[in-house]
Amino acid sequence: MDAFVIEGAAPLTGSIKANGSKNAALPLMAAALLMDEPLVLSDVPDLADTRNMLHLLAELGCDVPQRPSCDEPTTIHAADASPCTARYDIVRTMRGSICTLGPLLARRGHARIAMPGGCAIGDRPVDLHLRGLQALGAEIELDSGDIVATAPTGGLRGASIFLGGAFGPTVLGTANVMSAATLAQGETIIESAACEPEITDLAKLLNAMGAQISGAGSPRITIRGVRELSGTSHRIIPDRIEAGTFLMLGALDGADITVENCPIDALMAVCDRLERIGIDIALTPDSPTDLMRATVTVSRRDSLQATRLTTQPHPGFPTDLQAQAMALLCTVRGHSIITERIFPERFLHVPELSRMGAQIFRQGPTAVVSGVDHLVGAPVMASDLRASASLVLAGLAAQGQTIIRRVYHLDRGYASLEDRLVPLGAQIQRVDEKDLAPIGVC
Ligand code: EPZ
Repeated sequence: MDAFVIEGAAPLTGSIKANGSKNAALPLMAAALLMDEPLVLSDVPDLADTRNMLHLLAELGCDVPQRPSCDEPTTIHAADASPCTARYDIVRTMRGSICTLGPLLARRGHARIAMPGGCAIGDRPVDLHLRGLQALGAEIELDSGDIVATAPTGGLRGASIFLGGAFGPTVLGTANVMSAATLAQGETIIESAACEPEITDLAKLLNAMGAQISGAGSPRITIRGVRELSGTSHRIIPDRIEAGTFLMLGALDGADITVENCPIDALMAVCDRLERIGIDIALTPDSPTDLMRATVTVSRRDSLQATRLTTQPHPGFPTDLQAQAMALLCTVRGHSIITERIFPERFLHVPELSRMGAQIFRQGPTAVVSGVDHLVGAPVMASDLRASASLVLAGLAAQGQTIIRRVYHLDRGYASLEDRLVPLGAQIQRVDEKDLAPIGVC
């Protein structure tokens, strides 16, 4: 397993570019299962999760490349429409596999997908996905830990579906039901749909394939079913969470960062909080006018202020940037309050940041962060993707050396992050955990 060794407090400056969005890519790749013509996607990030998705799609009868490439489009062709099973071995490494359920059911009439288990950020039920597909007429049962879904004779039927849950709408649930409804007979209305930009991007792709979807990006999506979909090409939106992580990096003490390919239009709640703290975010004079692919600079005013922050479904502050915001607030004077409303248990980074000298008091879904003058490097353990990113930010700001173990979590969402941080002046090195002792950093 790999680890990062970071010598903190090095001044950072320069430009860093956000890649294509991981969370948009996964359901878009799964949409290839809806047709027998090739789907050509560009800007698929080369990550553990997208490689796993290609692997799964290959098992599901698709011709796929070995791995995505930044330079070449990724072509996925569902050449053999007979396989319908997503094995637990794959699903357990990547919960995003669940977004093959809707497309398989709609196009092949049957799907057997291992039920995803819990994960480090808390309970991850799929009841809303199943309820939505049942409303379209699917019969669903659980067999030996697998979800077994079968479409009625004659195929899925349009329906009105309320997809809201106790913690708000579901992103991948909306993706599953919307994708399945493209081939259902008649009209489907999804009420309390997720409004995330990844859903808008999926609807854009599906419409380019011949679907008839309106309202994506709002809480009510209407889908008029069509008989078949056809091949197309599509460029995936930039990753708002990666870009947001880089904005936080620019907000760190001493950093002077430009973020390229930044979907600033999808990051309003984040910019609002950062500006409230005392961080200025501005478009560069040569920025593309497309605010989903902007170039922005991040600069810090002299003194920063503590703030309150609550995670919410889009367009609210994203849960996927909560841990990174916490790392930033650890050194902002005063008491900041962070409330996690999407995954109330998503706080595994708290004890690790505390090892670095952070003062955090957590009770239930709320954490009070009392700013300290500086963090101190320490050996820490990455527990999940975004917690890992928060530890990288903290390690870069801290005085002294930080060793982050289990960075495979980070690799699921940030492609070769260390290679992109070094040109900014970051002193960060990837090592094999086995080699830590011999180089004297154990
Ligand atoms: C997506 O997960 C993202 N994953 C997550 O990103 C992100 O944190 C999450 O949306 C919320 O924005 C991908 O896109 C691959 P949800 P998803 O269904 O769709 C509850 C990252 O770090 N819920 O929107 O699985 C659920 O427990 C990751 O990149 C139900 O109750 O999340 C949660 O409280 C991690 N029943 C809330 O809804 C359901 O059937 C939102 O979850 C489904 C969800």
